[in-house]
Order: sequence, then structure tokens, then C-alpha cells
Amino acid sequence: MIDIVHDLQTLRARVAGWKREGLRVGLVPTMGNLHAGHHSLVRLARTQADRGVASVFVNPTQFGPNEDFARYPRTPEADAQGLDAAGCDLMWAPSVDTMYPLGIAAAVKISVPGVTEVLEGARRPGHFDGVATVVSRLLLQVQPDVAVFGRKDYQQLAVIRHLVTDLAFPVTLLAGDIVRADDGLALSSRNQYLSPAERRVAPLLHATLQRMRDAWDAGQARTGVEAEAIQALEAAGFVVDYAAIRTRALGIPDDDHGRGPRVALMAARLGTTRLIDNLEFGSGG
Ligand code: PAF
Repeated sequence: MIDIVHDLQTLRARVAGWKREGLRVGLVPTMGNLHAGHHSLVRLARTQADRGVASVFVNPTQFGPNEDFARYPRTPEADAQGLDAAGCDLMWAPSVDTMYPLGIAAAVKISVPGVTEVLEGARRPGHFDGVATVVSRLLLQVQPDVAVFGRKDYQQLAVIRHLVTDLAFPVTLLAGDIVRADDGLALSSRNQYLSPAERRVAPLLHATLQRMRDAWDAGQARTGVEAEAIQALEAAGFVVDYAAIRTRALGIPDDDHGRGPRVALMAARLGTTRLIDNLEFGSGG
């Protein structure tokens, strides 16, 4: 049965024991309320590691003042069961005081420049500083050989790659593919906030990403592709933060329609629920 650990001393002892045996350790950072997408990340970690650790921590520093920190679903028992079934050995579930021992106001913060300033970063000030700060702490606490993040949070993955490269964290990063429901909606803990009517409309996000890819491939100008996507989503009742075609490094691509690697990304609100999704396309990525 999975080991559920809340204190740093026990975590360190478990990981040190594994390392003494020469075992490789994989970490999957999460905020809990786990679904099949998270379980697939655990399975991916276990392809490269002998022991799997998943952290379950709803990180207050990555939520803005008007965001859903208080109502973010917390389901630790179900999380532990799902992790166990997916082959995870240890669930690291620290308290806020354990994660931020000097208090949040006194916490050392990590800030990644550049890639954090566009798209999600522009709409959610401070969000990626909170992510970079907690991921740095998790990597220092667990000291994994491998850490796995999902491609659904495309920009987050870019931020973490920058962080790990720049601070030379001794860890190999792996990216897990987006897991989708049969109708195309990317799995997310936030999907459960959707009313039945909103849930029926939500797959339009993925369908619109596919249309953006096809329109780009057909030679339509980027600004036109983006404007049409926003129009289609708004007509269905979404409030759109952005629908964008970018290079894989999140720069603005030339309208050259070469087969270069691209990504279409979007963030939109349905009622009170904010959803994000993305689609990578083009060759060479
Ligand atoms: O992707 C998430 O669930 C969170 O942003 C992460 C990486 C666990 C940091 O809190």
C-alpha cells in the first residue's frame, strides 16, 4: 500500500533509503484531485524510475486573490488510492507550514523571466512565480532523478524547463501527453466545476484548436486564425482570454506557413470555470 508522508524528515529518510539501494526515484508534482491524466504521468515516471513519488499540495502562492484556491477540490483519500493503483510508492502531502516553514510572506521566491510574461503569465500575475517557487522546493525536498509534468499546462512546462536548466537542478524532465475524454475535452480537476450544460459545450475548445491548426496549415494569416477562433468560442458562450498560435518556444511565428513546429493555445472561461488547452502541430517539434 502507498506510503502517505506529511513530514520532511520521513520523506528524506524514505528517499535516502531507496538511493542507498541504488534505486532511481521519479516525482510527479500535483495539486491533488487526481484523474486519469495524473495517473498516466505516474506510469510515465515509473518507466524511468524504480520508485514513484507524487506530491499532493494545493499551492497557495500560485493562486491570485480572486482565483479558486479555497474551493480547489481536495480529495486526499481518493488520490492515495488512485496513486497506489497507478504504481506510485509514496504520496508526499506536506502542510502549508511544511512547504513554507518561515511563512509565505518570508518565503524565498523564484521568478523565471521571459516565458512567464505572455499568455497565462500576462493574465495571471505572479502565477508562474508561485509555480517556480513550489516546484523548486519539491525538487529540493524529494531530490528525484526524474520529474514528470503534463503537456496540458504547456507554458508551465516551458517555465519549468527554463528553471531546471538555469538553476542546474540535477533532474531529468519528462513531459506527459494530454489525456482527453472521448469528446476531446482535456482532463482537468477544474472540469468538475462545469454545469451539465457547460460540460456539453466544453469540447469546443479542442475542436477549435484543431480548426486553428487546419486554418494555419491551409495558409490563413495568424491574426485571422486567432480572431476566428475567439469568435467561434464567444458565440458558444465562452469568455476568451486568448486563442493564439505560437512557436513551440511561445514566440510569435512568421506567417510563413512552413511546416515548422507550432502550438495553438487557448484559455477561456465557461461560467465561473477557467479552462486551458493546447495542440502541438507541425513537424520538427
Ligand atoms: O500543474 C500543477 O498541478 C501545479 O502547477 C504544480 C506543478 C503541481 C505546482 O503546484
